[in-house]
Amino acid sequence: MKISRLFLGLLVSCAALSASAQTIIKFSHVVAVDTPKGQAALFFAKRAGELTKGKVKVEVYANSSLYKDGEEMSALQMGSVQMLAPSLAKFGPLGVKEFEAFDFPFIFDDTAELHKITMGPVGAAMLAKLEPKGIKGLAYWDNGFKSFSANTPLKMPADYKGKKFRIQSSKVLEEQIRSVGGIPQVMAFSEVYQALQTGVVDGTENPISNFYTQKMHEVQKYLSITNHGYLGYAVIANKKFWDSLPADVRSQLEQAMKEATVYANQIAQEENDKSLAGVKASGKTTVYVPSKEERFALKKAMASVHIKMADRVGKETLQEFYKATGFDPTKL
Ligand code: LMR
Repeated sequence: MKISRLFLGLLVSCAALSASAQTIIKFSHVVAVDTPKGQAALFFAKRAGELTKGKVKVEVYANSSLYKDGEEMSALQMGSVQMLAPSLAKFGPLGVKEFEAFDFPFIFDDTAELHKITMGPVGAAMLAKLEPKGIKGLAYWDNGFKSFSANTPLKMPADYKGKKFRIQSSKVLEEQIRSVGGIPQVMAFSEVYQALQTGVVDGTENPISNFYTQKMHEVQKYLSITNHGYLGYAVIANKKFWDSLPADVRSQLEQAMKEATVYANQIAQEENDKSLAGVKASGKTTVYVPSKEERFALKKAMASVHIKMADRVGKETLQEFYKATGFDPTKL
């Protein structure tokens, strides 16, 4: 009797020990589950659990349910959350200005050009620049190209004049809106729907997957498929936390991240296409595809952003981007 009690006690404490040996990773993000980032985060969580055989449990918090953008980066640096996937625009305000190069309008024609940066040495060197900030850069995940929306049609640059556009906190994006006579308004992503609904801002820019899943089509009459700039993510971890993981667990998580990155980049276009179909089916927003001439007029108007903001992000970084993409703002 005594022995079996002892045995039971031992069993219980072993179970408690193995439960406490599980590492919990909180992974916070600001978009809906049905977006490229939302789906890729869940995929990573699943593979992390499988590959570490339950030693790591990744808890995904979607839709700003844990932190809003603007709050999440300092929470990661403090170690209150272990992983994030902020949009690339979010690293400029952190003081890593090179990331603002991603915000330049019309710098990439397509994802093949983008991948020359994000999947090559330039992208890797940029992630390394996050380390002195206590951040470990793990991967780049695609979303897609942004489009503008408003309650009036947006065809030519003159249509943007005097309108307030919500943007992410980025000096390059501010200049982009000013280049067409608009008024930039920096605001957290979670507040955009209400700001559009109440008229605090007139319009916004985002990939269609964000536009649709935040229901912005309910409060915007026109969506113009401008594809004028890119929005994607860097998946990051608190560096101290990441470095403290046992080497075998860390390499299993790196493997999970590798697979999640392939998955993220595979589904990004599909998720955006699905969302565009959803916007069209809703009948609430008129989807407008600018003509070649209209899009070129926007590109030409926004070329000044490249000239004005080149010093800010560093000419060397920008030259690397231009080399990869063939974009030349002086030739427009
Ligand atoms: C935004 O704030 O518009 C985006 O960064 C949201 C996101 O994470 O896709």
